Amino acid sequence: MTGVITILIKQIKKDLAGCFERLGYPLEDLSVTFSDRPDLCHYQCNSAFKLAKTLRKKPLDIVKELAEEFNKAASYAVAEAAPPGFLNFRINDNGFTQLLLDLYEDKRCGVDELECPPRIIIDYGGPNIAKPLHVGHLRSAIIGEAMKRLARFLGCEVTGDIHLGDWGLQMGLVIAGLLEKYDLSGYFEGKKPQEPPFTVDDLNSVYPEASARSKTDEEFYKLAQEITYKLQQREKGYYDIWEDVCAVSIADIKGDYEKLNVQFDLWYGESTCSEYIDPMIEDMTKRGLTYESDGALVMDVGLPDDDKPIPPVMLRKSNGAHLYHSTDLGTILMRMRQQDPDEIWYFTDARQVLHFEQVFRAARKAGIVRPETKLAHYPFGTVNGKDGKPFKTREGGIMQLKDLISLVTEAAEKLLSDEAKNEGTDTARKVGVAALKFGDLICNRIRNYIFDIDKFLQFDGKTGSYLLYTLVRIRSIFDRLGNEAAVNVDDIKVRSELEKDILLKMEMLASSYYQAYEEKLPNYICDAMYELANAFNVFYGSCRILGQTDPQKRNTWIALCVITGRMLEQTLDILGIDTVNAM
Ligand code: ARG
Repeated sequence: MTGVITILIKQIKKDLAGCFERLGYPLEDLSVTFSDRPDLCHYQCNSAFKLAKTLRKKPLDIVKELAEEFNKAASYAVAEAAPPGFLNFRINDNGFTQLLLDLYEDKRCGVDELECPPRIIIDYGGPNIAKPLHVGHLRSAIIGEAMKRLARFLGCEVTGDIHLGDWGLQMGLVIAGLLEKYDLSGYFEGKKPQEPPFTVDDLNSVYPEASARSKTDEEFYKLAQEITYKLQQREKGYYDIWEDVCAVSIADIKGDYEKLNVQFDLWYGESTCSEYIDPMIEDMTKRGLTYESDGALVMDVGLPDDDKPIPPVMLRKSNGAHLYHSTDLGTILMRMRQQDPDEIWYFTDARQVLHFEQVFRAARKAGIVRPETKLAHYPFGTVNGKDGKPFKTREGGIMQLKDLISLVTEAAEKLLSDEAKNEGTDTARKVGVAALKFGDLICNRIRNYIFDIDKFLQFDGKTGSYLLYTLVRIRSIFDRLGNEAAVNVDDIKVRSELEKDILLKMEMLASSYYQAYEEKLPNYICDAMYELANAFNVFYGSCRILGQTDPQKRNTWIALCVITGRMLEQTLDILGIDTVNAM
């Protein structure tokens, strides 16, 4: 665990460590956390229970000594021993004022970089060429993008790779389908057309037709397999058609991801590693790791204590073609050779758990990664409709991403004020996509969720709209303050519970970044950000910031607005959510 390291926790830990040393207590057990009894205290240390065993002392005696020692020097908090052995800390007005000043000065809102940030490749998105993006692609893009931005913010060197599906049988099917419908002879006569003779809509209709036909038409299926093999051998005409199919499809895919505010550093595909695959398989074979089974070349990855048998990894078909296992293994090899990352993270739906288990085992067995390289699959649940089944269009078809984005944009448009509509045509899309993304991210990654755009767009509750609206409110405070917004940091004092609550929620939001990073669960951040917005809105509802004439209150309150605004902006950006100036 990276550890919870917020400004106050760091401070308490440091001072408590001094107390431990002066009292001769061993330091290894020192931990400070948020209080689980906020009515009693703000922070707590439960280390005395463990320490009692080492020191053969009563926990309560230990915490009494620690509290006394701590209170001798600390001016920002009071420590209190509580039976049977808790050490509770209440932050006083001084402490909260100092926290406010520290946060005000810190551009990162109290979130430090990790001590040893790893180098990470994140494999997410994963759409397939010649197939339109649909609702099934949503979560990988949204969660992967958020985790990429979070890891980067915490100091990691991160590469996001889309890993396009561009090398399997579906490419053979598409090319076979295209060859029947269009005159593609130029490709085979060394005369590649200037403009591809097919559009993205053509591709979108060819694939389902070809796929359906291959199920009944044996000959067509064989042809598609043959073309797949020839493509994988980079045979000229087929390869040139494939290049054009990719170019047309990628341009469309890029547009869709752009609307979702999702950006990839690498637009590699399964094909990118193709030259690594055969040598890799030869090497595995030389070392006696592979064998033939039903004409295919496979490798066992089962382990003695598996509860259920893990099937072998499929490396090569009888016709020589590569498969999904082989492209993923080749890609790991390529990534190790090119970048040698410390970690590779994969975000795909939970149906691929076995696939990655097999691939990771094979990569270790074949020595493709270093023993310390971390390979991890982070699966997620499905997006369901209100009937609890995977989300469909009204007609029962698969909802395409473009239609989904139009749907959320139109729903958002209805709720916007005239002022917001005047901001530009993009405002409705941004509000709709924020609702969509936040609705996804706040649901624990592992679970399924129900796509309910009306609920996601509500201005009240744990929604993207609520957060964007809170930020709009803060921005409008600054618009109205104009050049009266300057804060005199020498005249600040935190006094009220409402102010303190905001500051505590800021600390909790900062700490949620580490939790989300550790467990790859952005929902921690969403929940904590909602809590901060809520605390701010309660404060806003009862404190008239604009009319405030007491300079100390005014400075304190404006500083709180500054930091809340900054922290919401920072966090929304990490989640990949665009903000707006009016709603
Ligand atoms: N293209 C795959 C699919 O549609 C997802 C790719 C996931 N990433 C990976 N490295 N296998 O299922």
